[in-house]
Amino acid sequence: MRVAVVGGTGDFGLALAQRLAEAGDHVVIGSRDAERAKAKAAELRDVAHAIPIVGHTNAEAAALGDVVVVALPWGGPGATLPETRQACRNKVVVSAVVPLTFGGPRLFTPPPAGSAAEEVQALLPEARVVAAFHHIAAHELADAEYPIECDLLICGQEAAAKETVTQLGRSLGLRVIDVGALSNAGPLEGITAVLATINRRYKLKNSGIKITGL
Ligand SMILES: NC(=O)c1ccc[n+]([C@@H]2O[C@H](COP(=O)([O-])OP(=O)(O)OC[C@H]3O[C@@H](n4cnc5c(N)ncnc54)[C@H](OP(=O)(O)O)[C@@H]3O)[C@@H](O)[C@H]2O)c1
Repeated sequence: MRVAVVGGTGDFGLALAQRLAEAGDHVVIGSRDAERAKAKAAELRDVAHAIPIVGHTNAEAAALGDVVVVALPWGGPGATLPETRQACRNKVVVSAVVPLTFGGPRLFTPPPAGSAAEEVQALLPEARVVAAFHHIAAHELADAEYPIECDLLICGQEAAAKETVTQLGRSLGLRVIDVGALSNAGPLEGITAVLATINRRYKLKNSGIKITGL
């Protein structure tokens, strides 16, 4: 599969890109600056030789991807996704965006739409949005020698789109758990604020979540 990562030059996007490429997917890193994306892709190719990663602008990356992952910080989708709308038409779009605000009175504030994923869906109305990857730390993803310990919780409107993301997650060795409709994205995103607080409190980089009783 060819996976585009919009906002792919950040810690999370790069770590996911590396994992996916090492699992056999072709990855296109997107950026507001094509040269930055190309440089980051080259850095990853230097670390792990022969992995299929290239860099482009966000819009070009979205056009090249079969699946598009949105790995933008909160505040990024409104500025960036409109230019990818045409390219994302009918595609599975994975929102990993979490509406966190560091340094203020509240770490997590749900957006007016209920979740960042629903905001992404509103910006890309023709896309098949699935919310996923909120609980897997960049640090955990980047350490590709080790299996990822946590579960991959996903939600979305369309079963076929969720199946695509399930296959993607399984290719990374993850147990994938479908938690229902996209309206559950708000609670999923909120868990990330809990994990970020645990990380700070216990001086960790990669607390995660596993569902018991399944
Ligand atoms: N870090 C984690 O462990 C982790 C885990 C799970 C989920 N997430 C979520 O994944 C998303 C990405 O996380 P991250 O830590 O990689 O974020 P980041 O480093 O802050 O941002 C990722 C990339 O987005 C672009 N960007 C930054 N500000 C932007 C803006 N205002 N408008 C448009 N593009 C902008 C930048 O790329 P260019 O300058 O190259 O365009 C940047 O490299 C966030 O929503 C985060 O909550 C993160």
